[in-house]
Amino acid sequence: MLSAVERKIEQFISDLNDKEVTALYAKLPHGKRLRAKLILKIAGNTLSVVKTAAIVEMIHAASLLHDDVIDDAYTRRNKPSLNALYGNKTAIMLGDILYSKGFLELNNISPEVAKIVSNAVVQLSLGELKDVSLSKAFHLDKEIYLHMIYQKTASLMEAAAGAAALLAGKDKRAYMTYGRNLGIAFQMIDDILDITMDAQTLGKPALHDFEEGKTTLPYIYLYEAMKEDERVKLQSLHRKKLSDEEAEWIKVKMQEYGIIQKSFLEAKVLVEEAITLMNERGESALSGIAMAMIERDF
Ligand code: IPE
Ligand code: IPE
Ligand code: MG
Ligand code: MG
Ligand code: MG
Repeated sequence: MLSAVERKIEQFISDLNDKEVTALYAKLPHGKRLRAKLILKIAGNTLSVVKTAAIVEMIHAASLLHDDVIDDAYTRRNKPSLNALYGNKTAIMLGDILYSKGFLELNNISPEVAKIVSNAVVQLSLGELKDVSLSKAFHLDKEIYLHMIYQKTASLMEAAAGAAALLAGKDKRAYMTYGRNLGIAFQMIDDILDITMDAQTLGKPALHDFEEGKTTLPYIYLYEAMKEDERVKLQSLHRKKLSDEEAEWIKVKMQEYGIIQKSFLEAKVLVEEAITLMNERGESALSGIAMAMIERDF
């Protein structure tokens, strides 16, 4: 049960015995808890499973604390982000505390689970670094984009599913493939929603990726589809604060060339593969999670 995971996270935080950390953590709104749900649906709710789900959510929260510093993002989960409230230094340190408490607790699960999850955090960090370095130029290589989003986002979902399968004595490979597909599709959809949704619905900045220099899948496809003069204009807007008019132009062009639909279909293929894998195993709840993920709007 998800509430057992919430209680376990609170316990891990209170173990730290630090009033400032407890107060800061209390300021963080909860997210969708997708990764915890995934783990519970695969492996049930024994103590080790609940602990693993709590650890993975703490690691995920840490990655978001750092991500909002990296991305200059001042809202998260519909509230001012921690870096907006207390500055980058506090956000980075709280991230470090959540990461390291997570690693410490992994030692109490099993060496295999510790290895799979900590390896994913290495990948996640490499992916975030790659995302930043790619954003410095106008990059349009889809293979590089796909590998980067695998690292920054899918690796943790793949590991969450793999760790859960290990704990449940299930076939690790199939569940890791499921988590990997879900994770890649999840980031593709996150990158689409950045363009199609407003900040209110997302609970975080909208149309922010391109301003930050991120040429996500829709931008790669848009550039491919555009005529030369449009390409020149698109490239001139890269990494700039967009006026309302410029933002509207990008959205109109995305629609005109059917880019949102094209990108969405690509994510859907991955999700459908994941659903088939789970249906073969009678894991209808996991198929349901995958289905809900493509239908989400935040
Ligand atoms: C946000 O993840 C970061 C990405 C990988 C795109 P979520 O959308 O799962 O964040 P929360 O935990 O629900 O806020
Ligand atoms: C970050 O991707 C994913 C992480 C590994 C933290 P984004 O930068 O797109 O995530 P959001 O949109 O800020 O949630
Ligand atoms: Mg971000
Ligand atoms: Mg980011
Ligand atoms: Mg995003």
